[in-house]
Amino acid sequence: MHPRTTTPSATSDVLVVGGGVIGLVTAWRAAQRGLSVAVVDPAPGGGAAQVAAGMLAAVTELHYGEQTLLGINLESARRYPAFAAELAEASGRDLGYRACGTLAVALDADDRAHLRELHALQRRSGLESEWLSGRECRRLEPMLAPGVRGGLRVDGDHQIDPRRLAAALLVACERAGVVFHRAWAERLSVVRERARGIVLADGTGLDAGQTVLAAGSLSGRLAGVPDDVLPPVRPVKGQVLRLTVPKPYAPFLSRTVRAVVRGSHVYLVPRENGELVVGATSEELGWDTTVTAGGVYELLRDAHELVPGITELPLTETRAGLRPGSPDNAPLLGPTRLDGLQLATGHYRNGVLLTPLTGDVMAHALTTGELPDEALAFTPRRFADASLVSPTQSLTEQPV
Ligand code: GLY
Repeated sequence: MHPRTTTPSATSDVLVVGGGVIGLVTAWRAAQRGLSVAVVDPAPGGGAAQVAAGMLAAVTELHYGEQTLLGINLESARRYPAFAAELAEASGRDLGYRACGTLAVALDADDRAHLRELHALQRRSGLESEWLSGRECRRLEPMLAPGVRGGLRVDGDHQIDPRRLAAALLVACERAGVVFHRAWAERLSVVRERARGIVLADGTGLDAGQTVLAAGSLSGRLAGVPDDVLPPVRPVKGQVLRLTVPKPYAPFLSRTVRAVVRGSHVYLVPRENGELVVGATSEELGWDTTVTAGGVYELLRDAHELVPGITELPLTETRAGLRPGSPDNAPLLGPTRLDGLQLATGHYRNGVLLTPLTGDVMAHALTTGELPDEALAFTPRRFADASLVSPTQSLTEQPV
């Protein structure tokens, strides 16, 4: 096969491959720093954020062995109110940011033991979390099942509407002068061992001083990226349901409610507009985004055990998305071994939560060539250099 002829076209300081929330926040923040920025994506504003529930759950989604990741999750959560206010102002859009808190509950003795362990880990990590009896949980959330055996009240884990977040970022980018190429990136251009932009499927070349690969779970698939630089991300499927609380029933739940039921996570995220998001499965099935009867059944069954009244609600949407999983569940941020190529991918369960911090980190990396201190552990080079400490390698906790 003959190589396709490349037609040189636009040049920018920064070319972001991927127009999901991570790519868009990178583009917006870079444009605010005075860089000329372009984004390549056939449908910018789409991606996993169209499916995600939008929990900002640094504390309730804490896992053993993820202490370093916890640090940036908390820092990003801390930045969220100012970020959301600035983005709302820049876009003229409401983001659905809601400081509602979260209640993680247990339905049986096993769940309770699991939650007690989580509570102990949270306390050892200096996090705010209060143990409640089943009765206290139901006093907070009267729709909870009578069988709830106890729970953790975490007043600092909030929510945002990821669809509104993506839409607002799109407008903010446009207003900041970001150029959009609504097309698929076919391959990275590498000239004399330096990334120089990308080539579109129609052969058009887009030149750039720096290229940022921010294409979620697709980031590991761009042709032309040298093997030792290609990010080790994989798709992790999540099925999510959307129900609607009719106005006479509101408020159905006042905060996010979640649990581990028979080993599976289930969460219910109530929006102010009556939407109730129920998620999520976690499936290692490659690029499959089929919504299955089994996935919907399990989510509804587990959610029903927590909040029996959900069976009265209209089921308005079922959808599956792909989390960009990385080998240590943490993102890959900043410069790679290939000059001119940076990464912003691998956010796995925390893409929406880490959006504010990722924007700041990437703007810093794109303007200085270096990661800021808070993101040093998330360098993509950690997977090529065993001497670097992994961001989820805990110095104090043993995995269970
Ligand atoms: N953070 C929620 C999820 O990944 O399902």
